[in-house]
Amino acid sequence: MASDPSDPQRSDPPRAPIVAPIDSSGGPYAILIVDDEEGIRESLELTLGDDYRVFTARNAQEGLEILEREPIALVIADQVLPGMTGVEFLEKVIERRPTAIRMMLTGYADVASIVRAVNEGRIYRYIPKPWEPEELRVNVRRALESYSLATENASLAAALRDANERLRQENLYLRREVERRYAFENLIGSSPAILRVFEVMEKVAQTDATVLLTGETGTGKDLVARAIHYAGARKNARFVAQNCGALPDTLLESELFGHKRGAFTGAHEDKKGLFELAHGGTIFLDEIGETNPGMQVRLLRVLQDGEIRPLGASDVRKVNVRVIAATNRDLRKMVQDGGFREDLYYRLRVVEIGIPPLRERREDIPALAHHFLEDAIARMGRQIKGFTNAAMDRLVAHQWSGNVRELENEIERIVALAGDADTINVDMLSEHVRGRPAQDESPDSAETESSDMTAAVDDLKRKLIRQALEDTGSKSKAAERLGIPRQSLQKMMKRLGMKDAGAD
Ligand SMILES: Nc1ncnc2c1ncn2[C@@H]1O[C@H](COP(=O)(O)OP(=O)(O)OP(=O)(O)O)[C@@H](O)[C@H]1O
Ligand SMILES: [Mg+2]
Repeated sequence: MASDPSDPQRSDPPRAPIVAPIDSSGGPYAILIVDDEEGIRESLELTLGDDYRVFTARNAQEGLEILEREPIALVIADQVLPGMTGVEFLEKVIERRPTAIRMMLTGYADVASIVRAVNEGRIYRYIPKPWEPEELRVNVRRALESYSLATENASLAAALRDANERLRQENLYLRREVERRYAFENLIGSSPAILRVFEVMEKVAQTDATVLLTGETGTGKDLVARAIHYAGARKNARFVAQNCGALPDTLLESELFGHKRGAFTGAHEDKKGLFELAHGGTIFLDEIGETNPGMQVRLLRVLQDGEIRPLGASDVRKVNVRVIAATNRDLRKMVQDGGFREDLYYRLRVVEIGIPPLRERREDIPALAHHFLEDAIARMGRQIKGFTNAAMDRLVAHQWSGNVRELENEIERIVALAGDADTINVDMLSEHVRGRPAQDESPDSAETESSDMTAAVDDLKRKLIRQALEDTGSKSKAAERLGIPRQSLQKMMKRLGMKDAGAD
């Protein structure tokens, strides 16, 4: 410590004016001087008093009291104080005001202890007695400049921390939003039948109960399974899906439960099964009705004991996986016919959600059709505004044996072939959807082969007309709302056997 490399005398030009730094509130910094010798206190005050607010204390106790009261930025303490060493005192300063800069006055060179204190970061600098006033002023100024930088950094760091935290929260929120969307917003529908499904889904998502999804092909079992997973507590773990009808027995077993190397021809490596990969998450067993008796026993064991045994392994492993199974077959009937284990059936259908076929919730068709239209337009970059009423009528009336998937494919096909048409009309529908040409105004339309379609359309029309009349209170306004001339509405109501509530 004999020479100080940052000696200000070397870098500052001689007699450079010393501009004292000011604190963040614009006032002078507060400095605390602790020394039991009055002469020292006075002379330090004299050196620094013009530029700073100087507080003096005779001993550690007084010093600490001032520290409690005043926003002290820098402390100068004597190396030896009554009843306490300067180092001990500065330790207490660190406890109370860790950012304050600490300097120590030293009259004799107990160099070792001071060097240690400086090196440990407890003292910013020591001031040998007697000191050169100009040098002291420069040292104090430098110290306070670094103090202000440090506090500025600290507040910047705090602001950064805050911003990061806000961002994290926002991300969390956005992710939840996306998940929620993934969970439920992909699911279109407002018919009572589908709303009942949503309601059960929401409830069951909050549990670990095994779920059996039943429904014809294309009704949305896949979508519902995912939604249940992403709406529940397991959403941060994996959702894995396996179609049980897609693989030969051994491969399916190895896919689900894994295998040891050499378990069968072609098993060159140990492999983890989906049940292990989905640990903590959800496994979706699609087409569960296609499983053979051996597989059914193994599935029963997982559901009962939470245990799996990889092919060729001697040990069993515990897994924590939620099971959602799906089938478009009539499992109950399969149980009766001996094609499916009864015990497994009951284990699977702790909660059964039957997704109704689309033809039993035709109210959902317009919204679904528009949803798929928007989707296809976005993908294919077309300019289609919507459907003609007649085209929508046909869509609503169609049987949709392939359910939502068939509707989705139909819209996709139409958009792909639409060219520069701006509205989808009946002619653009596939032939089987188009059925017979629309014969709304022909009296014998109810006797056509598609009589149930026509009846469904008629029902829907009645509903829409009734609603429009109720909402608008007048026939001309209702006609306007429905987008048809008033006379057509009149005619239609007559044909539909609707009571004419009187002229308007
Ligand atoms: N309520 C719905 N809202 C929006 N899209 C739906 C809805 N239901 C089904 N879909 C869409 O219809 C298509 C078929 O659905 P999904 O694959 O879930 O049917 P599935 O019941 O699993 O059929 P399968 O028995 O043939 O496997 C998917 O593209 C899906 O996104
Ligand atoms: Mg499916």
